[in-house]
Amino acid sequence: MKNFNFYNPVKIIFGKGTIEKIGTEAARYGKKALLVYGKGSIKNNGVYSAVTESLKASGVAFVEHEGVKPNPVLSHAREGVKKAKENKCDIIIAVGGGSVIDESKTIAAGALYGGDVWDFFTGKAAIKDARPLLAVLTIPATGSEMNSGFVLTNEETSEKFASGSAASFPKVSIMDPLVTMTLPAAQTANGAVDALAHIIEGYFTTKDKDAEMTDELVHAIARSVISSTDRILANPKDYNARASMMWSATLALNGLQALGYGGVSFINHAIEHSLSALYDIAHGAGLAIVMPAWFKYDLKISGPERLAKFGKAVFGVTAVSDKEAAEKTISAFEKWFAKIGAPLRLSELKIPAADIPKIAENAMALINMWEIGCDRKSVEEILRKAA
Ligand code: NZQ
Ligand code: ZN
Repeated sequence: MKNFNFYNPVKIIFGKGTIEKIGTEAARYGKKALLVYGKGSIKNNGVYSAVTESLKASGVAFVEHEGVKPNPVLSHAREGVKKAKENKCDIIIAVGGGSVIDESKTIAAGALYGGDVWDFFTGKAAIKDARPLLAVLTIPATGSEMNSGFVLTNEETSEKFASGSAASFPKVSIMDPLVTMTLPAAQTANGAVDALAHIIEGYFTTKDKDAEMTDELVHAIARSVISSTDRILANPKDYNARASMMWSATLALNGLQALGYGGVSFINHAIEHSLSALYDIAHGAGLAIVMPAWFKYDLKISGPERLAKFGKAVFGVTAVSDKEAAEKTISAFEKWFAKIGAPLRLSELKIPAADIPKIAENAMALINMWEIGCDRKSVEEILRKAA
């Protein structure tokens, strides 16, 4: 097990009926909030009124910044920064999924910065400080509610880049599994694939294959994501399955999932970010296409040992050799993705194989920035396996 530092200051308030606590929590940090949300789901399911009534009851004023789109874009984040500055908002409240929380993290840092927020994503500027951010999570998927990272798309350049800083952790995240009951099945599936993607990146690219505690945590999160999703799709009103899924997705990217691995590579994410930057597809859908293809490619390079271990622990794979177990594990991923309705091929999302060189070229920007050590030819090979 490699040495590590672990720091995670996010206060989690979890469970039924917890959204009404947002006002009291927000009042600890400021008097005027920029209230950031998406395209309307929170108005249809009662979350918007629960949040705004609680803020009013606690004397927290708010200015609204609505319309964050899935795969949030730079122009909308810039508008949010302007609004936060002009209205002298001293806190940011995100109500929604990863897209809303990520744009809110951008705004929280941008509100205290004199330059353009895209500087945080290109490495031109480091984030020194940010307005306090509080989140009300409505979809289990990204883990953004309990981590310090965030992702934004520059729609002019088709670059989907990430940023992060110690100042970017939410102060508080409220997670009420009841609000996830209005999620369409496709979004439930996208979230499940994303949570699995977060744990497999580290598990399969670890620099230390003897970090048993983290391996076992990863197995447990994977089993929980899979069984909770199966239960939710069979019965969308199953509260305990919703709760288990919500907490599992948070644990899948709050730092714990990679401790002792000595640094991990986010290769599947680097490739997927190009798919969602170029075609505006859901992040989870893109990952379902990339992951099995990358497993097939990586099996030749890294060998079957990790895939065999994962498959035995998570999917109950039995086999006479590691090679057979590894192949069965990849096939178990594909079968489960298909079962929950996630796409497996670029063609299913009408992305032509002829675009593969363009996608690979786009992905190289992140691969180089994240120092992943994968060349363009290899990315094309991975994508061809997903065509
Ligand atoms: O916009 P509204 O109307 O709110 O609808 C949203 C959106 O259409 C809907 N939704 C959310 N909660 C709902 C609901 N519909 C009904 N009932 C509810 N309770 O779901 C749709 C998707 O929302 P979005 O926030 O885009 O989903 P997700 O949480 O998967 O976030 C995806 C974004 O996060 C980034 C992704 O790249 C993508 O841009 N990621 C962020 C990470 C991070 N900060 O740590 C890591 C991830 O790897 C990922 O890259
Ligand atoms: Zn992800």
